[in-house]
Amino acid sequence: MKALYAEQFAPQDPLAGLCFGDRPEPSRSEGHEIVRVVAASLNRHDLWTLAGVTMVPFDPPVTLGCDGAGIDQNGRAVTIFPVLGHGPKFQMLTDGVDGTLAALVKVPVANVVRKPEGLSFEEAACLGTTWLTAWSALVGRARLQDGERVLVQGVSGGLSNAVIALARALGAHVTATSRTEQGHILGLKLGANEVVAPGTPLADPVDVVIDSVGAKTWGHSLQSLAFGGRAVCLGATSGRIGETHLRTIFANELEIYGHKMGTEEEFRALCDFVEWRDLHPFIGAHVDGLEAGQELFRRYARDEIAGKAVVRVDPALAPRRTADAQM
Ligand SMILES: NC(=O)c1ccc[n+]([C@@H]2O[C@H](COP(=O)([O-])OP(=O)(O)OC[C@H]3O[C@@H](n4cnc5c(N)ncnc54)[C@H](OP(=O)(O)O)[C@@H]3O)[C@@H](O)[C@H]2O)c1
Repeated sequence: MKALYAEQFAPQDPLAGLCFGDRPEPSRSEGHEIVRVVAASLNRHDLWTLAGVTMVPFDPPVTLGCDGAGIDQNGRAVTIFPVLGHGPKFQMLTDGVDGTLAALVKVPVANVVRKPEGLSFEEAACLGTTWLTAWSALVGRARLQDGERVLVQGVSGGLSNAVIALARALGAHVTATSRTEQGHILGLKLGANEVVAPGTPLADPVDVVIDSVGAKTWGHSLQSLAFGGRAVCLGATSGRIGETHLRTIFANELEIYGHKMGTEEEFRALCDFVEWRDLHPFIGAHVDGLEAGQELFRRYARDEIAGKAVVRVDPALAPRRTADAQM
């Protein structure tokens, strides 16, 4: 079957190892489901995989794609929970296990979840990594309450998009930061109450900060918190070493958390929530067919795409949505 896969790890030039070609079809086995993939989305995790930075050691080739949606063996429309295993040793689809950027993907039965009504396959293919992490960070880790104030660092990334949309739907007042005019427009479209430039001092301190940007924003994140505020660190796109004023932490009795992904129960709760609140992941770019996914990867790696980047693996079953991609 056709797939987009990492043929080799290339730390200096990750896309050098990206291939479109034939991979073995998965075989049926007890406790597993084979899903016919309709749409799959890209994540930074795929770029890390191509660079050889993986959660467990393994040798390529491996099919890329953590997130996807499609049709299961019983003909049900489903979306995929991408976490395999539990606790500190969990791994993701693509960590030595073939992922969703293929005609078929094989996952444990528990990882197959009914596609939320009202979401297209493309949209449902965006929930697995960024939306799950955003949900788990806000609800599970930061214990966000209705009416609290939230600061989200960044707008254009798929994770920031999800945090903004979910925090607003959970009843929070949301301030987001973005470096670009396009990011300011998108942030407001996603529901943020205000969008400011990174590092802008906030008139009102916030209860919760969600930071996946890292080095460039971490100092501002801590400075923006109210007494007893909670900061959740989810990533380090701009660098791994951030400014930390210790006095700010103890004087304001801050809680600081690191967080990764989420549980199967949280994924199911997220799917129910997006269905109930009629939320839709923002798709910034999409292409038809796996072969075209190679160019999508190049644009994604050059940071040219705001929002999620989606491959319609089976374009006939993933009807075109034009409104999102015009941003
Ligand atoms: N912990 C987990 O389980 C988990 C799950 C998913 C992702 N992640 C991580 O979270 C991070 C974000 O992922 P993503 O998918 O949203 O994609 P991304 O492309 O890494 O997102 C970039 C985001 O960072 C902002 N940004 C980038 N450079 C910046 C800078 N120098 N100063 C200020 N803001 C900057 C951008 O905002 P503007 O362009 O609007 O300024 C954008 O929102 C990645 O590092 C990823 O590995 C972690």
